[in-house]
Amino acid sequence: MKNTDWYKDAVIYQIYPRSFCDSNNDGFGDIKGIISKLDYLKELGVNCVWLSPIYDSPQQDNGYDISDYYKIYHRFGTMDDFDLMLSEMHKRGIRLIMDLVVNHTSDQHHWFKKAIADPKSKYHDYYIFKEGRKNGKKPPNNWTGFFGGTTWEKVSGSSEYYLHLFTKGQPDLNWENPEVRKEVKDIMTFWFEKGVDGFRCDVITLISKKQDFKSRFPTLALCGKDAFVNGPRLHEFLQELNREVISKYDVMTVGETVFSSLKEAKKLVDPKRKELTMIFNFDHTDTDNHMGVKYLKKKFKVKNLRKVVRKWQYGLRGCGWNSLFIENHDQRRSVGRFGTNENYRKEGAKMLATLYFFLQGTPFIYEGQEIGMTNAHFKSIDEIMDIESHNMDNIAKSNRLLGMLMKDTILEVSRDNARTPMQWDDSEYAGFSKAKPWLRITPNYKTINVKESLADADSIFHYYQKLIKFRIGNEIIKNGTYHEILTNYKKLFAYQRIYKGKELVVFCSFYQEDKRIKGMKKYMTGKLILSNYEGNTSDILKPYECRVYYR
Ligand code: NOJ
Repeated sequence: MKNTDWYKDAVIYQIYPRSFCDSNNDGFGDIKGIISKLDYLKELGVNCVWLSPIYDSPQQDNGYDISDYYKIYHRFGTMDDFDLMLSEMHKRGIRLIMDLVVNHTSDQHHWFKKAIADPKSKYHDYYIFKEGRKNGKKPPNNWTGFFGGTTWEKVSGSSEYYLHLFTKGQPDLNWENPEVRKEVKDIMTFWFEKGVDGFRCDVITLISKKQDFKSRFPTLALCGKDAFVNGPRLHEFLQELNREVISKYDVMTVGETVFSSLKEAKKLVDPKRKELTMIFNFDHTDTDNHMGVKYLKKKFKVKNLRKVVRKWQYGLRGCGWNSLFIENHDQRRSVGRFGTNENYRKEGAKMLATLYFFLQGTPFIYEGQEIGMTNAHFKSIDEIMDIESHNMDNIAKSNRLLGMLMKDTILEVSRDNARTPMQWDDSEYAGFSKAKPWLRITPNYKTINVKESLADADSIFHYYQKLIKFRIGNEIIKNGTYHEILTNYKKLFAYQRIYKGKELVVFCSFYQEDKRIKGMKKYMTGKLILSNYEGNTSDILKPYECRVYYR
């Protein structure tokens, strides 16, 4: 079977399964819960789902630590439930992409257990073990990982350490070993044979490491990055997966690529090179922090957002395909972020949605985004479950400088802000479950929930519904060129998409007050097809107003 371009007309909804819907009332979302909400997704209009990991796992990192790639974690259900979910999705014209987490496994995976139990077993070479310095007293080098601290954990009773770029429960796989790559290809084949339509490839740019394993010049965060990000054999490994597995199915892949430059990205997504279909870049989510470190907050400026959108819209034009997103399970909510304000929740959410939906690429919507769910407003670290936040909190408490730098931000930027249970209605536990959920519900669920959104014709949900309907199959959005306009306004993001003499003009105001936009009138000819303020047709944009004209 040949790869087709179906992904260009896909609108992908991300489900974070433990927080989506709990069918058996144990406080934890599950597959049957997802099945019960497929009609809701159909009503929203999405045609593809990305499911965060549902494989067997000790859940140290909420399933991004996999102990068996061929088994469903028992609290999510069974393989029969999975098969039913997939066929129910396909029946409704909804495709499914799974999460492929193969930079690392869980330390509970039988490969790792065997590697530890017997250093002579073949599984020892499935992972990256190195002798410690000073007779095993110090880690092999000074690298530091994504959740802070050293990337090495000592094997008890040995002078060896193993590499883990995330928690110590997530040992990195040794992709240099062809047997590891064979295991990965087998895993992919297993799920493709079941009929899944693609993979979101977790931290895929970390799979190849420079093999010197030497210490690097000390840095504040991610010391050793040059050795483990975009490593020397990355493209070769991806081409191998593509050639031997991906190219045999009509599927898509989206790579999560931390720190990917445009140059690197072009290599990853150029269809001629046969690596990935698209990647997630994080330039826009880094517009409000310093150096890609979310704990080091920076004032958001529209011009910086324009700059990164321009970079990717022009950069991949004609040589690759973009992914488009403003939220996911690792990011705090977009309501109140990117220059918006929670007091204008509806207006801001619709405006941001419009801004990214009319760009070239495949849009992703994270669960709850379509009803404008907000951050959780945690008051204390004790309310948070995420291992990353706890690691950072420990680091902040033990290091005065980092403590000062990260002051107040840990609660605010914690990934758990996006992971609170989905707000379905105003009943206790927000209709997510009848039992106390694994993570607390955001208190505003009485007013912000799906039931309310479905009843309100002017809701964010209904706005997304319109957006999705409009964009699927729209040739201008799919193929049109991108041009910024009226860039002299500090808090305006306006652009045209032009294709075969037709054009869409998008205006997004980040002003919190009415703002007359000189020069706007000339773009306002043609049909007003979408706006978040009914009836405003002047050149004065209301707070967070957005409008789209077709001409
Ligand atoms: C990226 C995932 O999105 C995140 O949730 C996870 O913690 C890391 N990769 C490690 O797998």
